[in-house]
Amino acid sequence: MSRQSLAGNGEFRVERLRYRDISSIAALERLVFSEPMSLGNLWRHALSDRTAYLVIHRHNTVIAYFGFTFCERYAHVLANATHPDYRRQGLAHRLLSEGEQVARARSARAFIGEVRCSNLVQLKALQAMNWHIAGQMLAFFGNGENAYVVIKVFD
Ligand SMILES: CC(C)(COP(=O)(O)OP(=O)(O)OC[C@H]1O[C@@H](n2cnc3c(N)ncnc32)[C@H](O)[C@@H]1OP(=O)(O)O)[C@@H](O)C(=O)NCCC(=O)NCCS
Repeated sequence: MSRQSLAGNGEFRVERLRYRDISSIAALERLVFSEPMSLGNLWRHALSDRTAYLVIHRHNTVIAYFGFTFCERYAHVLANATHPDYRRQGLAHRLLSEGEQVARARSARAFIGEVRCSNLVQLKALQAMNWHIAGQMLAFFGNGENAYVVIKVFD
């Protein structure tokens, strides 16, 4: 299905997380990340009023999500992921764009996050949306991998 057909005709909506989504976000984390967030930590974030999760459903399951937590004038990215069966259809782009509106409404002035240096797809996706690499942190991830610090300053 093309990006136009999925993103353009109302077949999906970006929605706020509901508690019943948490198990499918946890399943998606386990599927796509080598160091997934634990179910306990997902619940902790979901219950916090400092955290926002935006999700896209298909057949009552979360197929893409974007989570971030507010810290003064920054919104710090927790994670975003799209299920492998639904990639390259504009879902991450849509979530990050709508996430920016949510973050701005909470007076955040920028997104900041960390991306594995090997994650070229995420880096390309972010750069296509005017994010920038601000620096590098050595051995940031649990397996010792370095992280690029990425930032999107809101206009
Ligand atoms: C990175 C990820 C979230 C992208 O999700 P997606 O819904 O497929 O992304 P989109 O369709 O919105 O793509 C947006 C842009 O990103 C880039 N992009 C996405 N996938 C790409 C790929 N496989 N190769 C090259 N560029 C790619 C393109 O510039 C694309 O725009 P275009 O299709 O107009 O060229 C998805 O690949 C994923 O879940 N990866 C595993 C989890 C992960 O690494 N998350 C990020 C770290 S927290």
